Amino acid sequence: MTVFAPLVPPYEVVVADPPWRFSTWSQTNQDIGKGAVAHYSLMILEAIKELPVAELLGQHGFLFLWTTGWAMATGQAHEVARAWGFEPKTEAVWIKRTASGKVRVGTGYIARSMHEPILICTKGKSGRLGFPSMFDGLAREHSRKPDEFYARLAALTPGARRCDLFSGGVERTGFDGWGGKHAGRTARRNVVTQIEASP
Ligand SMILES: C[S@@+](CC[C@H](N)C(=O)[O-])C[C@H]1O[C@@H](n2cnc3c(N)ncnc32)[C@H](O)[C@@H]1O
Repeated sequence: MTVFAPLVPPYEVVVADPPWRFSTWSQTNQDIGKGAVAHYSLMILEAIKELPVAELLGQHGFLFLWTTGWAMATGQAHEVARAWGFEPKTEAVWIKRTASGKVRVGTGYIARSMHEPILICTKGKSGRLGFPSMFDGLAREHSRKPDEFYARLAALTPGARRCDLFSGGVERTGFDGWGGKHAGRTARRNVVTQIEASP
């Protein structure tokens, strides 16, 4: 357990919010600050797939993989889940709300982004969960995921051990965080290689 230090497996619930690199988007747009790379380092698909997430699980468990419309449409989200040893089963969507309760309309070339999808996957016999396929949550800073999601998931999995990969240093009650501020030196060093290796 080096890459994921200081996490202590096994976990039954893994949430992951990878720094997806939208490879078909023009590099110019990413560089001028419209893309995620203006906020944090990105990882190419192969680098995300290579993460030894399977080491974090025991025999059974859930993966909640935060993804994007394009990663769902191209199958990249499914590829990552399978590479990590999970089977994609269903999805849920976060309806992004403003503080006044309206749906927040974001950017997008073909579809304007008003939600974020989560690919829900299982490993082994994970059992029933009853997570809502759609939920509201306050949209805040770029990429920041809503507290409502973590609270719902924790309430539905009492007693489970949970971790939050690519937490960006955000502390979530009931989840051990890793990634961003929590990332170890190995992960940080890999970022440079990953960006340089990008198409
Ligand atoms: C989509 S953001 C996560 C946002 C976070 N879940 C939240 O709710 O605020 C992806 C995160 O991955 C981190 N990251 C990028 N490359 C990484 C790497 N190689 N290892 C660990 N973390 C990395 C970024 O710093 C960023 O915080």
